[in-house]
Amino acid sequence: IYTGKNEEYEASVTSPVNIAVIKYWGKRDSDLILPTNSSLSCTLSQDDLHTKTTIRASRLFEADRLWLNGVEEQVATSKRLSNCIAQARAFRKELETNSQVVETIATKERPLSEWKLHIISENNFPTAAGLASSASGYAALVQALANLFELTLDQTELSKISRLGSGSACRSMFGGFVEWRGGESPSGEDSYAYCVAPQSHWPSMHALVLVVSDDKKGTSSTSGMSTTVNTSTLFAERVKSIVPKRLQKIKEAILSHDFSTFAEITMQDSNQFHAVCMDTYPPIFYMNNTSKAIVHLVHLFNSQLHPETNAPKGIRAAYTFDAGPNAVIYAEEQHIKELVQLISYFFPPAKAQSFRAYFPDAYKIFESSDDHLDISTVCDEQLISDYKKSMVRFDPGSIRRIIHTRIGDGPRAISHTCGLANEIGMPK
Ligand code: DP6
Repeated sequence: IYTGKNEEYEASVTSPVNIAVIKYWGKRDSDLILPTNSSLSCTLSQDDLHTKTTIRASRLFEADRLWLNGVEEQVATSKRLSNCIAQARAFRKELETNSQVVETIATKERPLSEWKLHIISENNFPTAAGLASSASGYAALVQALANLFELTLDQTELSKISRLGSGSACRSMFGGFVEWRGGESPSGEDSYAYCVAPQSHWPSMHALVLVVSDDKKGTSSTSGMSTTVNTSTLFAERVKSIVPKRLQKIKEAILSHDFSTFAEITMQDSNQFHAVCMDTYPPIFYMNNTSKAIVHLVHLFNSQLHPETNAPKGIRAAYTFDAGPNAVIYAEEQHIKELVQLISYFFPPAKAQSFRAYFPDAYKIFESSDDHLDISTVCDEQLISDYKKSMVRFDPGSIRRIIHTRIGDGPRAISHTCGLANEIGMPK
């Protein structure tokens, strides 16, 4: 933490996004955010997608305040936000009571746990991209609070606090492959995230986030999952017998670098989550026609044969969809280029959009200093000819952007100079 000259404390962090391969859908307690089933996700690299959060504590501040992407939000009216802050403060209070912290500028009469906070948070991806930001957002909030208050809790304990903000946020407290153990206790003490395998375990695991155009307002995950729990009969079967088996199998696949099993389970679980949404009454549809065509394209890709030997090339990509039409495709690094070529051919950029704006190519897979990349230079006829038999080309702009990323690490502390607060603790 940084101690400023104006008798203030400050902490800044960045936190990653995570995308589940075994989906969390359904709560058994909506105040404590306890799930009906365990889930498992991959943490995506913060170098590409992250939330950055700065928290400043000052004895001059009069209220807790929060700015999200430059816009002030009300802290008091958000129960989830207040719960996270209150929980972190309670742990700080405990340290102060037991004299486990050395007060430097805060005093015994007015300890740090009683100071008001200014919280400033920004995503480096546009909200309009339609990516869920609650997971990285609450993970960043809780990590920054923990650093500011010098809490002596490990990441698993911190994951229980971020879970109070948004269920999926507990998985963003770790890098790599992360399980959220649903637990059974009504208190939530056994409902936490832990790391199944670190980022370094499978460095060739990459991902493509396909941002799909969408103009309709979807059902929020919070209300969607509550309707599912109350009305879907398929859902009970999923929770009771399907998820536990899949979780076991996918963990084994991850530990043994078995991509095809990993991919098969990932796709099946995404499909089942959306089937359960359809079985909800009234039904919920998150995937649109573009999403469905992406599913079709990935299956075509996975059924390709070697041109000479006619042997199957095998399952080399997996799609997964959350509570919206965007797709995330997991694939090993060596297959990413071919996938981008296919996707950009069948879902071309909007008419006025440059190829670089559509696919910024953060990992330089099209080795070229040429800024004039377009579909004709990127795609070869040979590659797409097989697919043309069973795929139609979508309208330009059906996919707005392709973000190339890979598995990444957990929350990072960053230096004061990269923080988001100015001298008086307001957004820079
Ligand atoms: C479909 O974590 O956003 O992305 O706990 O109500 O905040 P709340 O829900 P949230 O739900 C995420 C659902 C999902 C699947 C997943 O991430 O596991």
